[in-house]
Amino acid sequence: MKIILLGPPGAGKGTQAEFLSAHFNIPAISTGAMARDAVRDKTELGLKTMRYTKNGGLLPDEVVIDLIRERIGQDDCRNGFILDGFPRTLPQAQALDKIGIEIDKVLSLEVSDSDIIERLGGRRECVTCHSTYHIIYNKPKTPGVCDKCGGRLEPRADDKPETVKKRLLVYHALTEQLKAYYKESGKLVTAKGQEKVADTVREVFKALGVEI
Ligand code: AP5
Repeated sequence: MKIILLGPPGAGKGTQAEFLSAHFNIPAISTGAMARDAVRDKTELGLKTMRYTKNGGLLPDEVVIDLIRERIGQDDCRNGFILDGFPRTLPQAQALDKIGIEIDKVLSLEVSDSDIIERLGGRRECVTCHSTYHIIYNKPKTPGVCDKCGGRLEPRADDKPETVKKRLLVYHALTEQLKAYYKESGKLVTAKGQEKVADTVREVFKALGVEI
């Protein structure tokens, strides 16, 4: 199964990617998490990307295309993968087509802008494994501690309301058009992301035509 997850910032792509990854036993690949790791580890990529991610802008296409080309070429992607946050622009989608890997489904998670602004204020992310929680909707067992790896949970630097508004603008201007791009190729399916997490999981699997 090779799946692309589309949707505005905070739609729940990362949350659903974790369920899909566990169900299909394939890796979930988040370009955003790769960028945050690079910033945390102060790598060359991190120094290059920090100024874009911090203010809610997009990284240059060529940087993320190279990252993805390298990542999906790795052994653990042989049986499939979930792309969370890539592609995000038309040139990125076209570059993925050129790599020549057949994508099975493109799932768009639909959530209103107002819900997203409220949601991201309560998001907490594990600094180690990037699992995602919410202080109301998806609580960890112990506040501030990741259920999966025991890592520290923190708000993300780009979840400040002003940055979220900028990210939504960027989404509507550059990424939303990809729904039409993938609709044309018959790969687009949609699911409501406004339900409770467990209900959204059911919607997502139903949209993908997978029984759980
Ligand atoms: P990235 O990390 O990809 O951020 P994003 O797309 O903005 O999406 P988020 O991770 O914010 O949200 P999500 O949809 O995964 O939602 P989540 O599951 O966490 O990218 C960050 C930055 O990196 C970008 O701004 C850009 O600068 C750069 N970048 C990345 N990819 C790039 C690319 N391809 N090209 C260029 N630049 C790129 O859920 C959100 C919250 O809601 C959580 O707290 C969660 O617990 C909660 N929640 C989830 N589902 C539900 C539900 N059903 N009900 C209630 N709460 C829910």
